[in-house]
Amino acid sequence: MVVPESQEKMYYPPDDLKRDAHVPDFNSYLALYRKSLENPEAFWKEIADEFFWKKPATGPLLQYNFDVTKGNIYVKCMEGAKTNMCYNVLDRLVREKNFGEKVAYYWEGNSPDHHMAITYSQLLSQVCRCANVLKKMGVKKGDRVSIYLPMIPELVYTMLACARIGAVHSIVFAGFSSESLCERIIDASSCVLVTADGVYRGEKLINLKQIADEALEKCREKGSSTVTKCLVIKHPALRTKSGAACNKLQTPWDSDCDVWWDEAMRDSPEECEPEWLDAEDPLFILYTSGSTGKPKGVLHTVAGYLLYTSLTFKYVFDHHHDDVYWCTADIGWITGHSYITYGPLANGATSVLFEGIPVHPHVGRFWEIIEKYKVTKFYTAPTAIRLLMQYGREPLQKYDLSSLRILGTVGEPINPEAWQWYHEVVGQGRCPVVDTFWQTETGGHVLTPLPAATPLKPGSATFPFFGVEPAILNEHGEELEGEAEGYLVFRRPWPGIMRSVYRNHERFENTYFKKFPGFYVTGDGCKRDKDGYYWITGRIDDMLNVSGHLMSTAEVEAALMKHPAVAEAAVVSRPHAVKGECLYCFVTLKHSREFNHTLQDELKRLVREKIGPIATPDFIQNAPALPKTRSGKIMRRILRQIARNEKDLGDLSTLADPKVVEELFNQRCEAAA
Ligand code: WTA
Repeated sequence: MVVPESQEKMYYPPDDLKRDAHVPDFNSYLALYRKSLENPEAFWKEIADEFFWKKPATGPLLQYNFDVTKGNIYVKCMEGAKTNMCYNVLDRLVREKNFGEKVAYYWEGNSPDHHMAITYSQLLSQVCRCANVLKKMGVKKGDRVSIYLPMIPELVYTMLACARIGAVHSIVFAGFSSESLCERIIDASSCVLVTADGVYRGEKLINLKQIADEALEKCREKGSSTVTKCLVIKHPALRTKSGAACNKLQTPWDSDCDVWWDEAMRDSPEECEPEWLDAEDPLFILYTSGSTGKPKGVLHTVAGYLLYTSLTFKYVFDHHHDDVYWCTADIGWITGHSYITYGPLANGATSVLFEGIPVHPHVGRFWEIIEKYKVTKFYTAPTAIRLLMQYGREPLQKYDLSSLRILGTVGEPINPEAWQWYHEVVGQGRCPVVDTFWQTETGGHVLTPLPAATPLKPGSATFPFFGVEPAILNEHGEELEGEAEGYLVFRRPWPGIMRSVYRNHERFENTYFKKFPGFYVTGDGCKRDKDGYYWITGRIDDMLNVSGHLMSTAEVEAALMKHPAVAEAAVVSRPHAVKGECLYCFVTLKHSREFNHTLQDELKRLVREKIGPIATPDFIQNAPALPKTRSGKIMRRILRQIARNEKDLGDLSTLADPKVVEELFNQRCEAAA
């Protein structure tokens, strides 16, 4: 590979960024990349040396088997070492680096009236007190703690408190339904649930405690009562005078189980010795959708995740001490775990922690916050960019965005129009856009530009990060060289890759390693162009990506099937101007049931209830019958084309009854015309 030059329009890194960048040009990237593959031991050892190890590693930096035909899949990083994540991201900085007074987080609430700054030493003290609260509740090393919280500082305190005492956190995005929460509590068999009384999302007040209680009730109905204590935080916005007006919020209370955070924290000591864990002990579980419909508990471990999130954060955002960094994701997703909590803290960064939404109380909220804190590095999702693009330039012109130096995106492919707008209007043409491709499973960025080194092509995640060796395979598992399109896979692990599916190692092997032995299979399609740039083309399994949230068609179908009128359901994705993709559902009703607007509304509500508002279908269409092969397999390709109103359906000869298709076109949703 050489320094890329291309016929297409490329965007080169600005000189001022190069001056003090960690990786200042493409040749430096190449040299480091080569080192990371040829001598991973030396490469990662240097990174590991920045951190604190109670006991050094006895084994090699990375050991692994990536080939199912040769035995079980495993990845181990720094075997024999003992350490603690929380110590490394807090105590180390406060004690050894004098970062105590540095701001770790500027918290901005849903309403601009609610905000606070939290320094590293304040964070350490809150985390230790919370760790002692958890211990008092009986939480021990290896126990699971489910966390169902909005984006308030206590979410960070609780996750780091778990990390401190060696408990495994399982954070469930607070937009998920009670059913989804219940399923995740049961799978993790958590002993404690941490939640809040309520939260405002925009104008809407949500009674989180009630949803949490419903989830626990459902757990009991299913014969699983592992949760013995529920720690409840009074939301900062509900403590104030105006918040008190919202005392319409009834907080259901069970004094045997429920404990108020404030009361528990009041007398909790500030000293808490970290639990020294093995490098490969679990750090957390995070559930991600699986194509069978049942979510997978992606398991990450301590040492490898620390090395990988800290290094990707440092290089991809070219982090410097005086930066103010803001990632708009929710900590309920992996982006928040890796790039709001662990990666930034491991680097001693100052971050904005934002609870709100981009359009409340006005559509300039993001820009207002960038001006307020002089944000230098900004990381958001294409769906947010497309949403804000609709309001034009005007909302941005009221604010000073000159502090910005680097912009990032994550979660889904970014279309060139959104990229251009981000680059020209938000970044004023000055800021490189790092399009970071990665997954819950990968733990951190795997394909990504480095801002001062990589010439950019809008829409391409460009090149692999250090230690990552991508390949593109065809359907037969043959590796494609040069310009090619096919399955994106990785040939070897990097420290931050997932280690297993929680309590289901077989599913881990089947999902990611079976299809092409010797490779980790991402499930994404990918193109490599003549200059070696990688372009993600989207999922190639039965997964959908709605506003950057991955979900499986099977889980939405299962929710629809719960309705007594539904005999069969098939869900496909349809392009959407803001969300990227949206859900288009076909339902076949039972005899004598009538398809009408009321039923459509009921079905939409049902999916929201079963999964959560992020999975609300945009379209529900009547399907007197579904297009099936003679062996009874639903032909989703055809449904996708019907949803898009594409009339040229190609070869229909494998269909059992081709007349079904015509009928489906006649019944298309009016709104989708
Ligand atoms: C998609 C989110 C294109 C992809 C970090 C992947 C992307 C899935 C990008 C993982 C990107 C993520 N370009 N597609 N820059 N980033 N994806 O687990 O389909 O929520 O497999 O992790 O999002 O979603 P997950």
